Amino acid sequence: MVKNKNNKAIWNTRIKKRTSSFFAKIGGSLEIDKKLYKEDIMGSIVHTEMLFKQKIISFKIKNKIIYGLKKIENEISKNKFNFDRTFEDIHMNIEKRLFEIIGEEAGYVHTARSRNDQVITDLKIWMKSATKEINKNIDKLLKTILKNAEKNIYTIMPGFTHLKNAQALSFAHYLMAYIEMFIRDKKRFQNCLESLNENPLGVSALTGTSFNIDRNYTTRKLGFKKPTNNSIDTVSDRDFVLDYLYSCSVCAMHISRISEELIIWNSDAFSLIKLSDKVVTGSSIMPQKKNPDPLEYLRGKSGTIFGNLFSMLTILKGLPLSYFKDLQDDKEIIFKTNEILTSCLKILDEVLNNIYPDKKKMFELTNKGHVTATDLADYLVKNKSISFRAAYQKTAEIVNFAEKKKKQIHELDLKELKKIDPHFNEDVLKVFNLKNSINSKKSYGGTSFDNIKKMIIKYKKLLK
Ligand code: ARG
Repeated sequence: MVKNKNNKAIWNTRIKKRTSSFFAKIGGSLEIDKKLYKEDIMGSIVHTEMLFKQKIISFKIKNKIIYGLKKIENEISKNKFNFDRTFEDIHMNIEKRLFEIIGEEAGYVHTARSRNDQVITDLKIWMKSATKEINKNIDKLLKTILKNAEKNIYTIMPGFTHLKNAQALSFAHYLMAYIEMFIRDKKRFQNCLESLNENPLGVSALTGTSFNIDRNYTTRKLGFKKPTNNSIDTVSDRDFVLDYLYSCSVCAMHISRISEELIIWNSDAFSLIKLSDKVVTGSSIMPQKKNPDPLEYLRGKSGTIFGNLFSMLTILKGLPLSYFKDLQDDKEIIFKTNEILTSCLKILDEVLNNIYPDKKKMFELTNKGHVTATDLADYLVKNKSISFRAAYQKTAEIVNFAEKKKKQIHELDLKELKKIDPHFNEDVLKVFNLKNSINSKKSYGGTSFDNIKKMIIKYKKLLK
């Protein structure tokens, strides 16, 4: 029977010297995995119930263990638990305390179980609810974006390619591009749940167990969908961690892109949006400054999150099967990433509740860069029976001509247009109207006001 007297490590029968105090300090994971105490206790209770159901432990021992575990949970949640770093992680701390509370019978709790399956079980349970929580935060953000879009259907702005004015669009259409991205992010997180729903408990150290355990029972009781298939894969696998970190990375990348865009638009050079004082900070020397720090924070944090994905990939690269200490770092990476992404989603939501598009400036900028040139080329194809390439050339000539006159193409009058092509008539001037330009983009997914309104209705229903 495992003894645990005098605060000695449980392996002290085999290992005669105390672990180097320096390594004991840095090699443990207690400070990180304390966070998993609830999941750990839940897993242990279900494991104990299963051991009893399978007649591996007695009714009396089962009750004693469960009583002890519940007491421990209560102690930890009330900050009355004495965490001891000499017992390297949360699992050992709980087991040690169980011995103190119920005595030698605590030794039965670890029957047919190893910390290798225990730790992944705890982590998966934690990650399942964290994933759902992230998706709730994304939902909140989606609603905020949608609210902004609804207010800005008729806010005209230039769409950019290469950050040069390209074609006119509605600010709502731009915002709704991010709705698509964040909805895809949600799906990615949703997909993570599939592997998170496979129950590792019961694979024991790496080969399974000779005890007649019931893994389907623990699967059901712990809210998993099925038990994992291969014991050695189970204790070695951290793909589910990578899936999660990748999902976080893509979401952080989207957050970073919108942040960068808003930083540019808030710059004095662009001045397309204003930020309320709630989401700017000042300078210590330049009294006039209002800096978009929260947006810069969001852009920067994506770097930390990508780094975490790469840390985990690098830890796994070349790691033979099965468990190695290297894997212990997964939790710190996951917890930190989760914390950062959660705050990023909240901050972005706050910023988006505090931005004000300068509609006049947006409109003025849209009147630069000949943004209706493509509309003119399309008009020529439709009305003058020429190919798109021929229409493109003719339009380019018109742009050159306008530039020489220091005008925008929409500022040319019919007389000037006729100099390039005498066949032009009054009708053509319509294509230079920005509203017409936007509203003509009726192809599915385009920026026409009607399309946007339909999309807003669709997403309002979806996000209710
Ligand atoms: N604290 C360890 C971790 O988080 C628990 C697993 C320990 N398993 C072992 N074979 N040493 O990875």
